[in-house]
Amino acid sequence: MSNNFPKNTPLSSSVSEKLASLFSEMQADEINWLREHLNALAQKAADKASELLILYGTESGNAESLAEQTLEKANKLGFKAKISNMAEISLATLKKADNLLVIVSTWGEGDPPETAADFYEAFMADSAPKLDSINYSVLALGDTSYEHFCKIGKDFDARLESLGGNRLFERKDCDVDFDDDFAEWSDGALKAFSSVLTLDSNNSSVSKTTKTAVKYSRKNPCQSELSERINLNGTGSAKETMHLEFDLSGTGLTYEAGDSLAVQPKNSDELVSTLLETTQFDPSTSVSIKDETYSLGEALKSVLDITTLSVPFLTRYNAIANNQALAGLLDDEDKSNIQNYINGRDLIDVLIDYPAKELTAQSLVDLLRKLPPRLYSIASSQKANPDSVHLTVAVVRYETHGREREGVCSTFLANRLDLDTTADVFVTPNKNFKLPENTDAPIIMVGPGTGIAPFRAFMQERKALGAKGKNWLFFGDQHFITDFLYQAEWQAYQKEGLLNKIDLAFSRDQKEKVYVQDKMLANASELYAWLESGAYFYVCGDASRMAHDVDKALHQIVQEQAGLSEEAAAEYIKKMKSEKRYLRDVY
Ligand SMILES: Cc1cc2nc3c(=O)[nH]c(=O)nc-3n(C[C@H](O)[C@H](O)[C@H](O)COP(=O)(O)OP(=O)(O)OC[C@H]3O[C@@H](n4cnc5c(N)ncnc54)[C@H](O)[C@@H]3O)c2cc1C
Ligand SMILES: NC(=O)c1ccc[n+]([C@@H]2O[C@H](COP(=O)([O-])OP(=O)(O)OC[C@H]3O[C@@H](n4cnc5c(N)ncnc54)[C@H](OP(=O)(O)O)[C@@H]3O)[C@@H](O)[C@H]2O)c1
Ligand SMILES: Cc1cc2nc3c(=O)[nH]c(=O)nc-3n(C[C@H](O)[C@H](O)[C@H](O)COP(=O)(O)O)c2cc1C
Repeated sequence: MSNNFPKNTPLSSSVSEKLASLFSEMQADEINWLREHLNALAQKAADKASELLILYGTESGNAESLAEQTLEKANKLGFKAKISNMAEISLATLKKADNLLVIVSTWGEGDPPETAADFYEAFMADSAPKLDSINYSVLALGDTSYEHFCKIGKDFDARLESLGGNRLFERKDCDVDFDDDFAEWSDGALKAFSSVLTLDSNNSSVSKTTKTAVKYSRKNPCQSELSERINLNGTGSAKETMHLEFDLSGTGLTYEAGDSLAVQPKNSDELVSTLLETTQFDPSTSVSIKDETYSLGEALKSVLDITTLSVPFLTRYNAIANNQALAGLLDDEDKSNIQNYINGRDLIDVLIDYPAKELTAQSLVDLLRKLPPRLYSIASSQKANPDSVHLTVAVVRYETHGREREGVCSTFLANRLDLDTTADVFVTPNKNFKLPENTDAPIIMVGPGTGIAPFRAFMQERKALGAKGKNWLFFGDQHFITDFLYQAEWQAYQKEGLLNKIDLAFSRDQKEKVYVQDKMLANASELYAWLESGAYFYVCGDASRMAHDVDKALHQIVQEQAGLSEEAAAEYIKKMKSEKRYLRDVY
């Protein structure tokens, strides 16, 4: 709609004459009725023009939480704001918006969040409608350690411009420690929109979020005691997979099967010591981080990310180091050279390879981002375990460039967090990885390695609910003898009839690799029959290879079993996705 009709424009004489003739024939009560009707219409048009739509696309909940915070801020300021998920909005609805804030994250390797993928595809397509009366601003969430940093937010920003939109406030690209950037963007964007929208001061302080307040969050984590830690792999295994239990008694923390738990780790003392030795900085030196004072040692251990390298970090670092070789790498048109340097290296390598004489303790701290929490798919149902939350964590250890390396959070959980001591945790709800509401619906679960975690939660939940729906599990890992995670539990579920079918792919027990997708293909006709009977299909675990290969196998099964073309099989699976019967939790 156009907001540009000039105020107080005189009516043309022909329109005036027509109206005069119409009014002369009307009764007084008819004129009153018409006046009221026109006023109501004008109010409706003004209301719509002053409405602010906050549209988010999320996978692990950050964009949703920031959208809710923006909504609260906007309502306090007197905006008429509403919030929508890209998973649930159509382009036709978007077209009706005049004022838009987009908050969206990037996943995979520069991909949209799973639930925003259809909307993203439609929005980027040639058939997308013109949006030339829309004012907008974009907040992009991402992680500088990924090559395609904030790509989806950047795509939305550029597409809104190309569809004719008016960028009212500049896009902000956020790294994983997004709090300050979010505050700056939301304040700035709302100020910019307040200059084009009529605010209703009577409406201020009204706060309508779409869901009940979450008690614990990134900013207000729950301190929960580690009460159990068991290595699930047997002696001789190449893997180390920890079953962990956190005690929730008295915390009030709640979760649902399918959600993830975020854990705030600390760096290891050994790594901090090596870093201090390399820099020759005194650990007791006072440093400040966002107005708070710490000793350097404490800041490096508990507050800052000292392992992840990224191009933006190296660029900032080289502004101090001024190293020609590093500048050459950063400027190289072939970006694979800097990525190759980054892979398998950390801050200590950079300090050794490209020393920075001018670096001080404070300037080092200023270069580093905050240590981000890590997510873990919850491996328990709260219906079966009211006072605990369980995780299944693969411990990350590897050697590169002559040094033993460790994953920060997995080794924090496996080695550094003592039993009966607390860690900071909070739940990141995953609305898109839930059991079917209909407890009679069959489910197929594909979860090799740590991908098994949410399916343990699903089975506990279905048992607690007395769900009648059939359950089929595909699990795989390296060896049957040492790596069959939670073996006794699956066998007990089979015995009691809860788990109707289990197919196992132990990849290294024979010459040729056998993976879960091979087991799916070997059971193609039965799997298709389950799908036809309304089964939900779940995948959890490795995103880079497994999830892709399982998806390929699923397409092949549908194509062959239904006798469909490649395109028709793709449509069948697209429909399953839109019916929320093909759900993935991959990382
Ligand atoms: C929604 C979600 C659910 C998840 N659920 C689970 C789960 O249930 N269980 C689980 O174990 N994990 C899960 N993860 C992964 C988890 O969040 C962490 O990423 C994982 O534990 C590693 O974290 P870390 O801090 O130990 O390692 P980090 O310190 O983050 O190190 C990992 C990085 O080390 C590097 N690296 C690792 N191996 C090598 C190698 N061989 N050579 C060179 N570089 C290497 C890579 O850059 C890698 O990104 C999940 C992730 C998400 C997003
Ligand atoms: N994005 C990530 O950061 C990420 C994601 C997942 C796992 N990991 C890391 O990988 C390590 C172990 O993870 P995990 O315990 O969950 O197990 P995993 O490495 O995913 O392995 C589980 C099983 O899947 C098999 N597998 C390998 N490639 C596959 C494919 N293309 N399709 C299907 N199956 C395949 C493995 O076989 P083979 O090993 O014999 O080939 C193994 O039998 C951990 O260090 C974890 O942090 C990292
Ligand atoms: C498996 C995985 C892949 C990711 N891929 C990217 C990426 O390609 N580019 C990027 O900028 N950020 C990437 N991120 C970072 C997320 O965008 C970031 O964590 C964001 O805050 C998530 O927001 P959400 O919770 O709203 O989905 C990735 C994160 C994970 C766990």
